[in-house]
Amino acid sequence: MPEYIPEPFRIKMIEPIRLINREAREAALIEAGYNVFALKAEDIFIDMLTDSGTGAMSHFQWAAIMIGDESYAGARSYFRLAEVVKDIFGFQHFLPTHQGRAAEGILSTLLVKQGQYIPSNMHFDTTDANIRSRGGRPTNLVIEEAYDPSNLHPFKGNMDIEKLVKFIEETGAENIPFGMMTVTNNAGGGQPVSMENMRAVAKVYRSNQIPFFIDAARYAENAYFVKMREPGYEDKSPTEITRELFALADGMTMSAKKDAIVNIGGLLCMNDESLFQNARNELIMREGFPTYGGLAGRDLDAMAVGLREGLNEEYLKSRLGQTEYLNKGLLEAGVPVIQPAGGHAVYLDAGKLLPHLSHAEFPDQALVVELYREGGIRGVELGSVMFSYEDPDTGEMVYPDLELVRLAIPRRTYTQSHLDYIIKTVRKIITHADQIGGYKFTYAPQFLKHFTARFEPL
Ligand code: F0G
Repeated sequence: MPEYIPEPFRIKMIEPIRLINREAREAALIEAGYNVFALKAEDIFIDMLTDSGTGAMSHFQWAAIMIGDESYAGARSYFRLAEVVKDIFGFQHFLPTHQGRAAEGILSTLLVKQGQYIPSNMHFDTTDANIRSRGGRPTNLVIEEAYDPSNLHPFKGNMDIEKLVKFIEETGAENIPFGMMTVTNNAGGGQPVSMENMRAVAKVYRSNQIPFFIDAARYAENAYFVKMREPGYEDKSPTEITRELFALADGMTMSAKKDAIVNIGGLLCMNDESLFQNARNELIMREGFPTYGGLAGRDLDAMAVGLREGLNEEYLKSRLGQTEYLNKGLLEAGVPVIQPAGGHAVYLDAGKLLPHLSHAEFPDQALVVELYREGGIRGVELGSVMFSYEDPDTGEMVYPDLELVRLAIPRRTYTQSHLDYIIKTVRKIITHADQIGGYKFTYAPQFLKHFTARFEPL
């Protein structure tokens, strides 16, 4: 068995979970049309659907909630958050938003014009959708290693600098209102970006006068990967590394529901004064007054505390230790998983596990259903259900290369025994993998099918 690092905390408040029996799970699946998004959360034993907003707050955060200042304007909570944001990220201006996509929406509304391109290592799907909804074209330029599940490159989230330079030459800097980097790269397996790569990206953007924004959702996990893997950073603290990384950019969007360990919240930061004034006006229109931005005062206080806790070294060691532990445990059990382990999640290669199912039979969906059927575990499919589409020119279905199932680990929420239970369940599934059948849609909307589709076993 791989090593498990003891959590640097103990539990003083619990939320009961229960494993309903097999018959009840089968009935729940039928009622949900075999889509785990349609299950009732109380019918799930271990919920690995997402690490977003599902973490456990500390007693310091709960205490901070009690001193939240709910004044409409100029609340103390705002100034407490402002101080922490400035200290960690260093940008001139910041605005609180209700979550990450709200920050992305404001930035896209202000900067993206029809037909313009926004390069990144890889855009997360809400960023992608916000850019597209303004007529923009999000472009992913991550290194090739990112697409090889067994490649052990330490920074598989890196931008391919050559591709970026060529892309800017061909597109023209005037058609690129801003450039991005996602740290860690969620869409590519939660893989980190090195400081060296960030420096190179910043240099390319700067020399072309393209403003540089970071999607900062998992900034702290990225900082810890840099500390562990990049020469010259072993003696720096995650906070120092974060400061250095964000000093390279002109701004950031952030979902605070991940590394700031809150249930709701986001940030939009920038240095540019006139962009800030425009963003503030957008914020007032959509989210709320700039000193609360779509959140309650207490949420701002929980975030101010969580931003610092997320950077605590002992916590990060245990956090990344969990993903590593689950990844290794599954690998030892003979399950194909993306390597190396990402920061927040483990990705199972359903295509390899169920080779008898074609893309059209949704092996990813079949594995998601089996995880629930066998053990009451909820994961999310990232394969043909989410990404397949009909080619408008040929009318043929286009399928993604990889059929993945993501198990995202909520922060400070589950223990070693829960992870062992997942490994044990997957071991059981492997023994009858060749008998697992595929699925077909009985209903699917045109866009974002995975949330509301219904299925039937083939
Ligand atoms: N950027 C990244 C890299 C994300 O992973 C997410 C959310 C967002 C932006 C959007 O933030 O949800 O606060 O509006 N990711 C979640 C997930 C939903 O499950 O990976 P949000």
